[in-house]
Amino acid sequence: DWVMRDHIAEAVEQIREQVGDEEVILGLSGGVDSSVAAALIHRAIGDQLTCVFVDHGLLRLNEGDMVMDMFVGKLHAKVIRVDASDLFLGKLAGVSDPEAKRKIIGGEFVTVFKQEAAKLTSAGAKGAKWLAQGTIYPDVIESGGAKSKKAVTIKSHHNVGGLPEQLGLKLLEPLRDLFKDEVRELGVALGLPPEMVYRHPFPGPGLGVRILGEVKKEYAELLRRADAIFIEELRNFKDDSGKTWYDLTSQAFTVFLPVKSVGVMGDGRTYDYVVALRAVQTSDFMTADWAELPYALLKKVSGRIINEVRGINRVTYDVSSKPPATIEWE
Ligand code: XMP
Repeated sequence: DWVMRDHIAEAVEQIREQVGDEEVILGLSGGVDSSVAAALIHRAIGDQLTCVFVDHGLLRLNEGDMVMDMFVGKLHAKVIRVDASDLFLGKLAGVSDPEAKRKIIGGEFVTVFKQEAAKLTSAGAKGAKWLAQGTIYPDVIESGGAKSKKAVTIKSHHNVGGLPEQLGLKLLEPLRDLFKDEVRELGVALGLPPEMVYRHPFPGPGLGVRILGEVKKEYAELLRRADAIFIEELRNFKDDSGKTWYDLTSQAFTVFLPVKSVGVMGDGRTYDYVVALRAVQTSDFMTADWAELPYALLKKVSGRIINEVRGINRVTYDVSSKPPATIEWE
């Protein structure tokens, strides 16, 4: 639409004016905000933008490849993909406390990103001068004090405050006046696929907080495959109005439980892992109801996971609301 096209033209002009002929670095996570920021800045300054995509190995099935296909394959943007999965798994070995895991993942993420950014800024006169971030309006409000009033941190959401100063870079935040809905519309108008732009939120620590307790590569692989089946079927099943259950829920995912239970398969006994399916409806993520998914959908998902993912022999559905439960299990 025209309003959006005007907005893009204006934003592009502003970015060009601000940045001139200098180089920009952006941390691409695959999430909505950083993706839309990347697409917008790329539209404005093309190859003056370099995206750094730190793959911590705790992403969903094929997610890293999908990010690269989109940004490199389709938009022809410069993206440096850092495969840091072994590094992250190594640091997480033996750690089972949820907050400790978050701190390790968040801290390591910043370390790896800084190393890559340092390489890009040290290229003399042509070195990067800007750090772009997908900060949106609600983030601006949140960091303005509301957060500090909270007496207890229930879950520490990692953010990268102070990074531009530490790297000696100027900050570029082209989305800071926009609400989430506007960011999504902008993303679609910039040519990002709606499935990417209207995705459920995904936490920064990724599967690191969806594998209960210690994170292991084997667990992550099982969880990725089970979760892909759940999400695929949520996109397949529709209600009477024709909406998919993916769109009817605010957030849905699979949780890996590192306990084994007994099952039977063919003539044999199995002794394998358990997963929990979680799907919620909420308007603000502060409170949430568990979603009344159709039995036919649950049946299909459980049948497929148990048959297709060797190593998982039991699927459960989480019927806890927030509060007192949280949306994530950790
Ligand atoms: P909870 O589990 O606290 O989740 O009910 C509320 C929303 O926050 C997301 N979440 C996180 N996001 N880093 C993030 O970026 C985190 O450590 C984190 N923990 C929870 C969660 O997915 C839900 O959307």
